[in-house]
Amino acid sequence: MSDEEPLLEVRDLITAFDTDAGLLRAVDQVSFQVKRGRTLGIVGESGCGKSVTAMSIIRLLPQPMGKVLQGQVMFKGRDLQKATDVEMRKVRGGEIGVIFQEPMTALNPVQRIGKQLSECFLLHTKMSRKEAWEASIEMLRLVRIPAPEQRIGDYPHQLSGGMRQRVVIAMALACKPDLVIADEPTTALDVTVQAQILDLMKQLQKEMGMSVILITHDLGVIAETCDEVVVMYAGRVVERAPVAELFERPLHAYTRGLLDSMPKLDTPRKSVLPTIPGMVAGLADLVPGCRFCQRMGREGPVLRERPMFEEIHPGHWVETCPNCFEEPA
Ligand SMILES: Nc1ncnc2c1ncn2[C@@H]1O[C@H](COP(=O)(O)OP(=O)(O)O)[C@@H](O)[C@H]1O
Ligand SMILES: [Mg+2]
Repeated sequence: MSDEEPLLEVRDLITAFDTDAGLLRAVDQVSFQVKRGRTLGIVGESGCGKSVTAMSIIRLLPQPMGKVLQGQVMFKGRDLQKATDVEMRKVRGGEIGVIFQEPMTALNPVQRIGKQLSECFLLHTKMSRKEAWEASIEMLRLVRIPAPEQRIGDYPHQLSGGMRQRVVIAMALACKPDLVIADEPTTALDVTVQAQILDLMKQLQKEMGMSVILITHDLGVIAETCDEVVVMYAGRVVERAPVAELFERPLHAYTRGLLDSMPKLDTPRKSVLPTIPGMVAGLADLVPGCRFCQRMGREGPVLRERPMFEEIHPGHWVETCPNCFEEPA
């Protein structure tokens, strides 16, 4: 495989939920690539389709309502949408590790963490129980959990939130995956622990060379960790760019709104940050045209026709809605 070929390529993904109101699209023709060894950030407010995108990639959509209607998920040259369930179980945890927001959803409260970590090795490698146990202790050491020989016998509730998330990271990384998908991995943690965990993930990525998809509603987290950024709004990618480019030259009104609502170093304490007015429309109410115009209460043809998604500068793509797309002066 050439260096240029992305590790993961999502092409024109459409994911819908079968509801009483019909088939509603939560992800509407989303495309992006993840390069080897790189971190792609997916950012957007709550409800924009970030988690559904992740669940579609690893085929863990809520069943039977969730359905991928269209698109490909090319991973190491094959389409995961066409893989069998047995193959997908091997991919998950083996080649793709997953970290969710709330560590307790990934951990079994009634099993010692050593048993849960060992399980990853037993499922995906040919290790013996004893080897898996030793490897588990090594993983706890790798994620900087102090006294791993003791902690391995603990139950999840005996650990702090930050330590639990380290265990989840250890589980996601156990089999040296090519890709880690981290969906709001630090949102449930307090700020100092959040910084430690992000730092740890960065270091581990450097050591192990994996690619990461980092999903967050927090542009601050993106700035710290990502190489490239996808901005999602209402099920669509409205802008995509290398991270420095996005922060220097945001082209879409939604991205600018997110940036303006972010505290800066020179923001006086206790000042009120601007917020984007209104809310993301519900799935049943989304217009075919520009959804940010819909939020801003605009009318007319912009609501009926989907804006083009165009490359304005090398690697910098944006939905060129006449109202929302603007080149900075
Ligand atoms: N099981 C489900 N059934 C129906 N709608 C869902 C389901 N899960 C998520 N959705 C809807 O899909 C949209 C995208 O959700 P999600 O991907 O979780 O957003 P994000 O992760 O960006 O906060 C939201 O409108 C949400 O209400
Ligand atoms: Mg989410």
